[in-house]
Amino acid sequence: MNDKKDRARERTKEIAAEFSKSGDATGWFEALYKEAQGNNESIPWADLEPNRFLRAWAEKANLRGNGRKALVVGCGLGDDAKFLYDLGFDVTAFDISPTAIEWAKKLHADTNIKFETADLFHPFRGWLGAFDFVLEVYTIQPLPLETREKVIDAIAAFAAPESELVVVTRGREDDEEPLELPWALSRKDLARFEMNGLEQTGFEIMPGDEDTPADRFVVQYKKTK
Ligand SMILES: C[S@@+](CC[C@H](N)C(=O)[O-])C[C@H]1O[C@@H](n2cnc3c(N)ncnc32)[C@H](O)[C@@H]1O
Repeated sequence: MNDKKDRARERTKEIAAEFSKSGDATGWFEALYKEAQGNNESIPWADLEPNRFLRAWAEKANLRGNGRKALVVGCGLGDDAKFLYDLGFDVTAFDISPTAIEWAKKLHADTNIKFETADLFHPFRGWLGAFDFVLEVYTIQPLPLETREKVIDAIAAFAAPESELVVVTRGREDDEEPLELPWALSRKDLARFEMNGLEQTGFEIMPGDEDTPADRFVVQYKKTK
């Protein structure tokens, strides 16, 4: 068990609860990144390396960028953006937290990844339908359940015709209640992507790890219309 990450998870829940009491569903991300003062161990998801479930899927799929335009949604410190960059994608990555984006820019200063502070719900217009590969890792799951469809619609809107979209998330059964933050996704939740013209082309279930044992879903889509 990693005690520092356990403490970080507890603190994250406290900050998120404080903000959500005042009706602010996303303000806690910036507060958490700021409070961390550059120490990634205070951020539960920030390991300074690519997400291991994404990497396992990408290796199996032999993912290559070949100059394709990728967008990383809710990129945090940018390690998954860097992973796609190293695979040959032309990468744009954004996050609602300005502190996370400044941090990511410093960590990946030796790349030409375009890091931007932006809100998923108010994106740059030029990003809509503009990306060949859209990646979301753990961004849907911490946002309130009642906004889930809106979140998925907003992510799907970045996909260009014939593009790919990949989701990495904690998974749950359709009849399982999501009890606490982060609220895992069910297949029923994910079906919303298909209502946005994305056809599911892959679905992998991977066992979690010792610290966070929940199964992970790695789900792949192709934009058909
Ligand atoms: C659980 S973290 C995951 C970060 C990163 N994807 C990773 O796996 O390391 C969720 C991220 O989504 C960002 N986020 C939350 N709401 C957002 C929004 N409305 N627009 C853009 N980013 C958002 C948060 O600031 C945070 O960095």
